[in-house]
Amino acid sequence: MKVVAFGASNSKASINKKLATYAASMVEGAQVEVLDLNDYPLPLFGEDKEAEIGQPQPAKSFVDKLGSADAIVVSLAEHNGSYTAAYKNLFDWASRINREVFQQKPVIYLATSPGPGGAASVLASAVGSAQFFGADVKGSLSIPSFYDNFDLEAGVLKSEVIQQQLAQTMSTLFTAE
Ligand SMILES: Cc1cc2nc3c(=O)[nH]c(=O)nc-3n(C[C@H](O)[C@H](O)[C@H](O)COP(=O)(O)O)c2cc1C
Repeated sequence: MKVVAFGASNSKASINKKLATYAASMVEGAQVEVLDLNDYPLPLFGEDKEAEIGQPQPAKSFVDKLGSADAIVVSLAEHNGSYTAAYKNLFDWASRINREVFQQKPVIYLATSPGPGGAASVLASAVGSAQFFGADVKGSLSIPSFYDNFDLEAGVLKSEVIQQQLAQTMSTLFTAE
C-alpha cells in the first residue's frame, strides 16, 4: 500500500507535516511518500489567471500524486480558523483539474496546532466538505497543544492517550483496499 502524506501548510518547520509523517509511518508495511507544499509553487488562483495560464504543471503534479496513492493522510494547519492560504490555493487549482481532488481514496484527516484548540475548526470544515471532493474519509483527529504532546527530537507522541487515539484512527486504513 502506498500512503501519500502531507501537512497542509507551506511552513518549512510545519508541525502538521511532522504529524502527517508520523501518522503515515504507523501504517504497517506501507510505502510512505511525504509531500511538501513548497514543491508545488503556484500563482494566486483566480479565474482570470486560469484563463491566462490554463492548468499549471505543479497543480497537475499534485493531483497525480494523490492519484498514485492507495491512501492519503493530510494534517491541516489552521490559519484564522480556516485553511492556510498555501493549501487553499493549491486546492483551488487542483479542483479545476479534477473536482474530486482526492479521487475516492481513503483519507485520514488530522490537524494540530500549538494551542488547546488543535486546529479543530479547519478540521471540521475539511471533514464536512470532504464528500464534495472525492475523499473517502476513514477517520479524523485533532491533536491539541502539539509541543506539549509531541517529542520533537524523537519524532513521536509523548501522550499515551493521544498515541492510542491516533493508532485507532490510523487503523481504519489497515483494512482499506
Ligand atoms: C496567520 C496565522 C493565523 C493563525 N491562526 C490560528 C488559528 O486560527 N487557530 C490555531 O489553532 N492556530 C493558529 N495559528 C497558529 C498555527 O496553528 C501555528 O502557526 C502552527 O504551527 C501552524 O501549523 P504548521 O506548523 O503546520 O504550519 C495561526 C498562525 C498564523 C501565522
